[in-house]
Amino acid sequence: MFSATKYTGNSKQQYALVVKQLQALIEDEPNRIANLSNASALLNQFLDQINWVGFYLMDGDELVLGPFNGLPACVRIPIGKGVCGTAAEKRQTIIVKNVHEFPGHIACDSASLSEIVVPIIANDELIGVLDIDSPITDRFNEQDKQGLEAFIATLIHHI
Ligand code: SME
Repeated sequence: MFSATKYTGNSKQQYALVVKQLQALIEDEPNRIANLSNASALLNQFLDQINWVGFYLMDGDELVLGPFNGLPACVRIPIGKGVCGTAAEKRQTIIVKNVHEFPGHIACDSASLSEIVVPIIANDELIGVLDIDSPITDRFNEQDKQGLEAFIATLIHHI
């Protein structure tokens, strides 16, 4: 059974703990949907001031909605479109301080004001992206980028 934990210490220490929790949740389970579902639920209870967290996965030549926590979202995102498609195309994490200033941003939840998207790459193959939205501007920083990239680096072995 998963026990909610109080996350203490600095951001780096908190991310280290959530990565450990992820490892424990997924290490004995090979099913991709199950592990992505638990990964999004884990991040949803860990991160404050967010309104959407989840995955888009490559399907043919576009991204398709995967397991998530939040309001129903747009289902298909072409590579190169929106924040997700841009991060997928560039294969780089993108932090958007204000989504209204990102040309081509795809609005799924009108409450979203800032966003971070982390690509998921295994053996040089783009698997998909992790997408997190926040209802406040400038929610995500370099510590979040590093912590979430470490989170994905652990997840990648189990999806
Ligand atoms: N805002 C994203 C679309 C996905 S939703 O935020 C869940 C984008 O511009 O790619």
